[in-house]
Amino acid sequence: MKIALAADHAGYKLKEVVKDFLKERDVQYQDFGTYSEESTDFVDWGEKALDAIVKGEFDRGILICGTGLGMNILANKFSGIRATPCYDLYAARLCREHNNSNVLILAGRMTGIDLAREIVKVWLEVEFQGGRHKRRLDKLRKIEQKNFK
Ligand code: RB5
Repeated sequence: MKIALAADHAGYKLKEVVKDFLKERDVQYQDFGTYSEESTDFVDWGEKALDAIVKGEFDRGILICGTGLGMNILANKFSGIRATPCYDLYAARLCREHNNSNVLILAGRMTGIDLAREIVKVWLEVEFQGGRHKRRLDKLRKIEQKNFK
């Protein structure tokens, strides 16, 4: 699996933690920035990673800003993206089982290192359950195609 990673200044430190975690597990990734804690706009970094995912160059993404909220709004404007902010392990599991999340959103100012590592682990390992959940995602996809042509 190939992961596109991006963060703003408020997510920079947690992005480095996530990179270490992915390295430890031999998960391939590309870091689309930002590269320091200097103030910047989450939109610019998230857009680079999301463009690459939409082009099919990456299977999934992990985006981080202070609250996760800005990155979440951004990500769900991209075709085919199902971005899910996860502040706990329950959401990390359910967003995979039910929503087939392909972009994990983390909050650099709210989520501690150990919890973030656990969230990434669960989000990487848990499979989509399909069935009635696929029916719901198909309906979402139709709405997306109707509204974002
Ligand atoms: C930056 O101060 C902060 O607004 C940003 O990281 C994010 O939380 C936006 O939603």
